[in-house]
Parts: sequence; structure tokens; C-alpha cells
Amino acid sequence: MQNFLLATIALSAHHAWAVEIDLSNVTSINAAAKTAVEHVLAIYGVGNQSVSIPGIFPDPYYWWEGGLAWDSMVRYWALTGDDTYNDLVHEALLWQTGDDFDYMPPNQTKTLGNDDQSTWALAAMTAAEYGFPSPPDVTWVQLAQNVFDTQIARWDAETCGGGLRWQIFTFNTGYNYKNSISNGNLVQLAARLALYTGNMTNSDWAQKAVEWSQDLGLISEQGQVFDGSSTNTNCSTLNHLQWTSGATYLSGAVYAANLDRLTSADTWQSLVRTLVAGSDVFTSNDILYEVSCEPSHNCNVDQLAFKAILVRALANARDLTFDHQITASHNESTPISTNGSAVASGSLHDSINAILRTSARAAAASCSGGADGTTCGSMWTDATWDGSNGLGQELSALEVFLANLPAKVLMNANSTTGSPTTSGNGTATTGENGSSTSGSAVINTNDAVVNGKGSTLALVCGLGMAVALLL
Ligand SMILES: *[C@@H]1O[C@H](CO)[C@@H](O)[C@H](O)[C@H]1NC(C)=O
Ligand SMILES: *[C@@H]1O[C@H](CO)[C@@H](O)[C@H](O)[C@H]1NC(C)=O
Ligand SMILES: *[C@@H]1O[C@H](CO)[C@@H](O)[C@H](O)[C@H]1NC(C)=O
Ligand SMILES: *[C@@H]1O[C@H](CO)[C@@H](O)[C@H](O)[C@H]1NC(C)=O
Ligand SMILES: *[C@@H]1O[C@H](CO)[C@@H](O)[C@H](O)[C@H]1NC(C)=O
Ligand SMILES: *[C@@H]1O[C@H](CO)[C@@H](O)[C@H](O)[C@H]1NC(C)=O
Ligand SMILES: *[C@@H]1O[C@H](CO)[C@@H](O)[C@H](O)[C@H]1NC(C)=O
Ligand SMILES: *[C@@H]1O[C@H](CO)[C@@H](O)[C@H](O)[C@H]1NC(C)=O
Ligand SMILES: *[C@@H]1O[C@H](CO)[C@@H](O)[C@H](O)[C@H]1NC(C)=O
Ligand SMILES: *[C@@H]1O[C@H](CO)[C@@H](O)[C@H](O)[C@H]1NC(C)=O
Repeated sequence: MQNFLLATIALSAHHAWAVEIDLSNVTSINAAAKTAVEHVLAIYGVGNQSVSIPGIFPDPYYWWEGGLAWDSMVRYWALTGDDTYNDLVHEALLWQTGDDFDYMPPNQTKTLGNDDQSTWALAAMTAAEYGFPSPPDVTWVQLAQNVFDTQIARWDAETCGGGLRWQIFTFNTGYNYKNSISNGNLVQLAARLALYTGNMTNSDWAQKAVEWSQDLGLISEQGQVFDGSSTNTNCSTLNHLQWTSGATYLSGAVYAANLDRLTSADTWQSLVRTLVAGSDVFTSNDILYEVSCEPSHNCNVDQLAFKAILVRALANARDLTFDHQITASHNESTPISTNGSAVASGSLHDSINAILRTSARAAAASCSGGADGTTCGSMWTDATWDGSNGLGQELSALEVFLANLPAKVLMNANSTTGSPTTSGNGTATTGENGSSTSGSAVINTNDAVVNGKGSTLALVCGLGMAVALLL
């Protein structure tokens, strides 16, 4: 008995110095996710009663990252079933809606960009899709719809042939920049609203915003997503930096592809394949990394959170697609091609899964820092803690752990159940009720810029990372 105890203590002492994860064991994945969640909430201020305003993380985190975090927290509840933090998440998502219920709280006016606002709207959308307990006065989907309505009114055809500007207010730096995250978030919001409500006005906007992005070259034919372009030059030149946050277009395309399913069109599905191929630039031996700043060790606070966005998008592409070309075969050895056209039939699903599994193990290994030995670092490719810590690191790790849990069926306006259910297990090419629930997504389950130099000025502001503005 005594030996057993000693052995156990020794073992757990050893185990404390990293997040352990066994991807074949749901309990283990849940536990890894909970460890990351506890770090997220400690940063929020829960452990030491230092939460000052609900929904907002303290400096140095910008407001948008709260939206990203609460989205992850809703997903944490939906995928693990752990409702411990639901009241806190509920309060956070509602506190920041602003008086008009459109996620434009006056306190944020000084830095509020379209991308910041839509990040919160996407969190509300996640709450709607998973049946997160609804507030009394407004529905989650209504909050998302309100944001959508404010954004389409800002569509700016005067310059660059269209597009959303990064900033909402003329006095904010970045008003003359049209960036992919703002427009990609609009595509995603539009597609998810259409899928949820059946309102095709929304999906028309998804189409319009993605076509504009493609015409401008923000989305290349190879599926790369570039940062943005300036209205000063009528968007004649692009800032070619690539960020994992550009994967918001991929999520949008996946949801929209579920609309295609109703009409047998292949437009969006083909874009899904192209964008997955384009995201190849962010992997190294199947481990995700932020190619534009990790190798040079100069990611800013915002950029450290972007991998969470790519992880979600890849998980969406794996789980919410109905395309036989993606789901039919299970060949783990076939790599994702660097262009959409060369993807071998069926290989994409497994290629994505391999990335999400390998990245989850690498992320867990990186979560071995801090006083508790489970604080997550930023560079998963290091396979050990890289000495950094923060909200973005924890959210990215949380998302990649969650991406290895069985997916849940998404609800739509016609759904009546109050909590998400587990779908089939991934061998099917269409999820349960894939063709019978009109509007709801099919589920396949599975186990800036340049430093200030010459005539460029580096700015860091809001979600928009550092953006080079030509002077
Ligand atoms: C699964 O993981 C949990 C938590 O880490 C652990 O207690 C349990 O023994 C594991 N089960 C198996 C079958 O490995
Ligand atoms: C509360 O805890 C967090 C996380 O440990 C820390 O960053 C923060 O400084 C603490 N705040 C106060 C007021 O002690
Ligand atoms: C706005 O700031 C005030 C003063 O700090 C605070 O009391 C209020 O809760 C904030 N509102 C929001 C929505 O953050
Ligand atoms: C600006 O760019 C758009 C889209 O490329 C183009 O249609 C428009 O003619 C351009 N405007 C000017 C003034 O060059
Ligand atoms: C559909 O969406 C558009 C754009 O948000 C909105 O103006 C319209 O009222 C919606 N239609 C219905 C029936 O809800
Ligand atoms: C998997 O794909 C590789 C490369 O395309 C091919 O050589 C191999 O035969 C495939 N394996 C199976 C089991 O289909
Ligand atoms: C994509 O890659 C395949 C094989 O590498 C090549 O045959 C094909 O021409 C490429 N297509 C494009 C559009 O570059
Ligand atoms: C998934 O379902 C298939 C077919 O029912 C079954 O053979 C397989 O063992 C299941 N896989 C898991 C991981 O449950
Ligand atoms: C699928 O549809 C059938 C028939 O409408 C229904 O009985 C069943 O509950 C549905 N299953 C799920 C998982 O929605
Ligand atoms: C809800 O059900 C109605 C009636 O069957 C159908 O017309 C509508 O498209 C459904 N909405 C969604 C979002 O599936």
C-alpha cells in the first residue's frame, strides 16, 4: 500500500510538468481542455477576484480576444459537457453587447474594428448553434444577425470595388485598410446565419464578400489568404503576409458548402479544398505554426491567439463537410497538396485529422511551463515550453484539444432540443440526418506587417495585428 502511494505521488509529481493527452481517451482530452480553461479563467481574473468588467480580459488583451475566448468556452461546454463555467460565460457574452445588442459597446469605440465586432458575433453564433442556454431578452442568433446588419451597411463600394474596411470609425487608424479577417469573418457570419435561419439574404452576402476577396487577390487561386490592402492605392497592391486567422474564410466556406448541399452546387466545396491546401504553409511536419512571426520570435499578443482560428476552421472542414472527395477514404499517408486541384480523392479528411492530432500532442508538450507546470507556450513545433505564456497560447491549445473530441450536431432555427448531441463517428460520408434536416450542418465525427522601415509604419491596434500603412 505504501509503495503504491509513493509510486502514485512520484508519478503525479512527474505528470504535473506537462499537460498529458491521450487522443484515444476522451476523458484525457477533456482533462487537458479543462487545464487550459483554468488558465484562461485565471488570466480573466477568476481565481483572485480581479474580474473588473464581465467579458473583458485585462491588459494587454484587446477586447476582441474576449470574443474569441468566450466562443472557445461555449465550445468547451458543448464538446465536453462540463457546464461549470456556463454562468460566467453567459454573463460575459451578454455584458458586452452594447445598448443596441450589436456588440458595439461604447467603451470600445476607440479601437473597435469590424473584425473585433464580428469575433463576438461568431461567439454568439456558436452559442446559438450548440443550444447554449439563451438569455431572456434576446436570442444568440439575433445578436449575430444585428452585427451582420450593421456590417453589410458598411460595405464600401467606393474604393477597391467593395469590401469591408478594417475599422468602423474614420478616426481610427486602419480605416483606410481593407483586411481579410474583417471580410472573412463577414463571410463566415453570413454563411452560419443562412444555415441557421434559412435566410438566403445572408448567404448572398457570403457569396458577395468571398467573390470580392478573390477578385482582389486576398484569397489567391492557390488558397493563400493575404492580410489586406489599402484604400489609399485603391487596393492595387496587397500586403502579402499570411496569418492563421485568415482561416476564417475556410470556416465560412465550410458552412456555406452545407448550403450548397441543398442545391448540389460545388462552388463552396471546391473553395474548401483550395483553402485547406492553402493552409499548408502553416504546418511543419503536421504541427501548426504561425509562419509570419513564430520563426522570428516576434508574434504580438493578438497573433499568439490566431492558431485557435485555424484549428477551428480545420476541424470544421473535417467535421462539417459532406463532400465524398474529402470524407470517403481514410488514407493518412497522403499529404495535402499545395494546391487544391491535386488533392487525392478522400485524403483531405485524414490529412486534416493527422494535423489536428499531431498538433494536439505537440501543444500538450508545449503546455509544461509556469509554476504549475501546465502553462502553455506558443511554439508547438518546439515540443516543449518555449517560455511564453498568455491568453492566446491557452486558447490555441484549448481549441486543438477540443478538435480531437467527437463533434456535435449543430442546431438551427427549427431545432427544439436544448443541448447538443453527439453525431455519428466519422466513417459516414454524410452525418446523421444530413439530408433530412434542411439547413443544419452535416457532421462527420472523428475520434503586420512589416516593422516600421522606410516608408512603412508599423501599427498594432485591435485585432488587426500590425499593419503596414503606406505613408
Ligand atoms: C483515460 O484518461 C483518464 C484521465 O486522464 C484516466 O484516468 C483513465 O485511466 C484513462 N483511461 C484509459 C483507458 O486509459
Ligand atoms: C490575478 O491572477 C492573474 C493570473 O494569475 C494575474 O495575471 C493577475 O495579475 C492577478 N491579479 C491580481 C489583481 O492579483
Ligand atoms: C464601460 O466602462 C465602465 C467604467 O469602467 C464600466 O462600469 C462598464 O461596465 C463598462 N461597460 C462595458 C460594456 O464594458
Ligand atoms: C478601384 O478598384 C476597383 C476594383 O479593382 C475598380 O473597379 C475601380 O475602377 C478602381 N477605381 C479607380 C478610381 O481606379
Ligand atoms: C433576412 O436577412 C436580411 C439581412 O440581414 C434581413 O434584412 C431580413 O429581414 C431577413 N429576413 C427575414 C425573413 O428574417
Ligand atoms: C495512400 O496514399 C498513398 C499516396 O497517394 C498511396 O501510395 C497508398 O497506396 C495509399 N494507401 C491506401 C491504403 O490507400
Ligand atoms: C497542382 O499541383 C499538381 C501536382 O503537383 C499539378 O499537376 C497541377 O498543375 C497544379 N495546379 C495548379 C493550378 O497549380
Ligand atoms: C465507427 O463506426 C464504424 C462503423 O460502425 C465502426 O466500425 C468503428 O469501430 C467506429 N469507430 C469508433 C472510433 O467508434
Ligand atoms: C433524424 O431524423 C429522424 C426523423 O426525422 C429523427 O427521428 C431523429 O431523431 C433524427 N436524429 C437526429 C440525430 O437528429
Ligand atoms: C425550418 O422548417 C421549415 C418548414 O419545414 C423549412 O421551410 C425551413 O427551411 C426550415 N429552416 C431551416 C433553417 O432549416
